[in-house]
Amino acid sequence: MSALVLHVTGARPNFPKAAPVIAALEKRSVRQLLVHTGQHYDANMSEVFFRDLGLPEPDLNLGIGSGSHAVQTAAMMTALETVFLDERPDLVVVYGDVNSTLAAALVASKLGIRTAHVEAGLRSFDWTMPEEINRVVTDRLSDVLFATSADALVHLAREGVAPDRMHFTGNPMIDTLVRLRDRFDGSRVVSELTLPTAYAVATMHRPGNVDDPATLGRMVTALREVGDRIDLVLPVHPRGRAQLEASGLFDHPRVHATEPLGYLEFLGLVEGSALVVTDSGGIQEETTVLGVPCLTLRPNTERPVTITHGTNRLVTTDDLAGNVDAILGGGGPTHGLVPPLWDGAAGERIADIVVDVLA
Ligand code: UD1
Repeated sequence: MSALVLHVTGARPNFPKAAPVIAALEKRSVRQLLVHTGQHYDANMSEVFFRDLGLPEPDLNLGIGSGSHAVQTAAMMTALETVFLDERPDLVVVYGDVNSTLAAALVASKLGIRTAHVEAGLRSFDWTMPEEINRVVTDRLSDVLFATSADALVHLAREGVAPDRMHFTGNPMIDTLVRLRDRFDGSRVVSELTLPTAYAVATMHRPGNVDDPATLGRMVTALREVGDRIDLVLPVHPRGRAQLEASGLFDHPRVHATEPLGYLEFLGLVEGSALVVTDSGGIQEETTVLGVPCLTLRPNTERPVTITHGTNRLVTTDDLAGNVDAILGGGGPTHGLVPPLWDGAAGERIADIVVDVLA
């Protein structure tokens, strides 16, 4: 029987990273299984992405759902151990920095199954972020590390990863963007909210921004100040939804809430916008490639290439409105550069290396 690659996904940001790798391995006739942990389960957090991205139905959905970090990660590990023992994959591929990624890397490495990490080596150096813990541990456990940017290779080398285990393959999430850009379409949301030509998009869901009432209050004040300047659309992530709704943010006549959007609608909305305010990781990268100014409401980023090459700038609640004024006045952060190897062919490069690893 030919070698088996088992992909573990589970949360929204995993899907656009996995899609090009799966498609490129399919072309090379590699035997594959797609496991969805069920970390994200609402139709607009998961199913719509499978449809928009043309991902195959998961072979297995473990239906784990939400919980505290320990409860959720442990449930995933328990279920994944059974799957790995049953399927005996030759390589487990994990993506990004979510709890599903960590759970799969821990289980695979303890079973002696080789693990590959797509989007390895990113570091915010902020240990209050659960994702930073997930990144560092996943990289430590992985046998094959695929980096999206050169800084990631430096971090991995400093942490003792041997050069032959790390590969600079570029950004597969951008493969998905390049492939589907012609189909981006934010028009439904624009017309339903009767947005003017110039509007902004915001997303906020990090525990660091929405969990603490005092921090949330400062963020809401800052977002209302943005709304004083430009219509602002905020697709509301389930985490923090109740707090945001109770905060009065959406009482502002120019701040509009929507449900979480699918991939094509969301990026259509972003592509047509004057600027984005976010605390997401992936959106910093997508705005860089789309050339849309991005203001990241965080003290740090694990994606510095979006600042050095792209359209991203780190802001605080105090200077957000001033930065919006600067962008609307024509002084936005943009270098107009797309980072190296964010070219739509990362999945192909990853697949070539996977085939070598399996040989
Ligand atoms: C997770 C990732 C984060 C990523 C984000 C993208 C971790 C540690 N965090 O955060 O890095 O940026 O996904 O969306 O893995 N919920 C629903 N429906 C769903 C999924 C979640 O209602 O389909 C609610 C639940 O109340 C849940 C909460 O959202 O408790 C948080 O979900 P969880 O998957 O734990 O983390 P995210 O905040 O989504």
